[in-house]
Amino acid sequence: MKAIIPAAGHGTRFLPVTRVVPKEMLPIGAKPALELIVDEARSAGAQGITIVISEGKELIRRYFEGQSDIQFVYQKEQKGLGHAVLQAKTDDDVLILLGDAVIAGCNASEGIVEMSRRHGGAAVIGCERVPREKVSRYGIMKLDGERIVDMVEKPSVDEAPSDIAVAGRYLLPASIFSYLETQTPGKGGEIQLTDAIRRMLAEREAYAYVYPGNRQDIGNPDGYYAALTAFRN
Ligand code: G1P
Repeated sequence: MKAIIPAAGHGTRFLPVTRVVPKEMLPIGAKPALELIVDEARSAGAQGITIVISEGKELIRRYFEGQSDIQFVYQKEQKGLGHAVLQAKTDDDVLILLGDAVIAGCNASEGIVEMSRRHGGAAVIGCERVPREKVSRYGIMKLDGERIVDMVEKPSVDEAPSDIAVAGRYLLPASIFSYLETQTPGKGGEIQLTDAIRRMLAEREAYAYVYPGNRQDIGNPDGYYAALTAFRN
C-alpha cells in the first residue's frame, strides 16, 4: 500500500498567509499539519508516500527533503481532487489522505486499514456524521449497514441520501486510476474522486468507516483554530 497526500490547492480560504505559507505547513504545535498526516500514513503501514503539490508550494518539498519514503509530483492545473490523485498514479493500493484534513483522537488510517482487512481487502472510505444543513459541502454516502451502495458529491439537503460524509481518508485499489483516467468533469467542472469511486462501486465492494476522532479542515482560519484546540487536548 502506497500513500497519496493531495496538497496542491491554492489555499484561497486562508489568504493572505497562504501567499507564502502553504496551508498544509501551518503548525499544530511544533509540527506542520502535513507532518501529522505523514506520521498517520506511516503508522498505518504505507510503504512510500507521494505528496501532490503545485507550483509555489516548494516549502513543502524543502521541509521533507531527504526523507527516503517521500516523493513529490506536481499538479500543473487545478482540475479537482480526482485529477490531483491521478498525478500520483501507481500499481499499488492507495491510502489517500487529504493534506488539509487533520484528525484528532484516533489514527483514522489505521482503522481504515483494519476494516479493509476484515472485509478481505475491500475499499474503505473514512467518514464522519455531519449536521444535515452542511451536507452540501461533502461527498455523502448511501449505505446498507457499513457497505457503500452509492455516493453523491456535494448534494443539496433534499438530495442527500444520509448525513454520513466522506471525511478526508480513503483506501482504494489501484484500479481507481483507470476510472480517474476516463472520468469526465462533475460538480464545479472538476474531476471528482467521488465520481470515479461511484463507477468503481459497480465492480468492487466498498465500506464506510465512521472514525471515532474528529476531523478539522485547516484550509480556513476557523478550522485551524479548532485543530489547535483539538490537538492540545
Ligand atoms: C473533498 C471531497 C468531498 C469530501 C471532502 C472532505 O471536497 O470531494 O467528497 O467530503 O473533500 O473530505 P473538498 O473539501 O476538496 O471540496
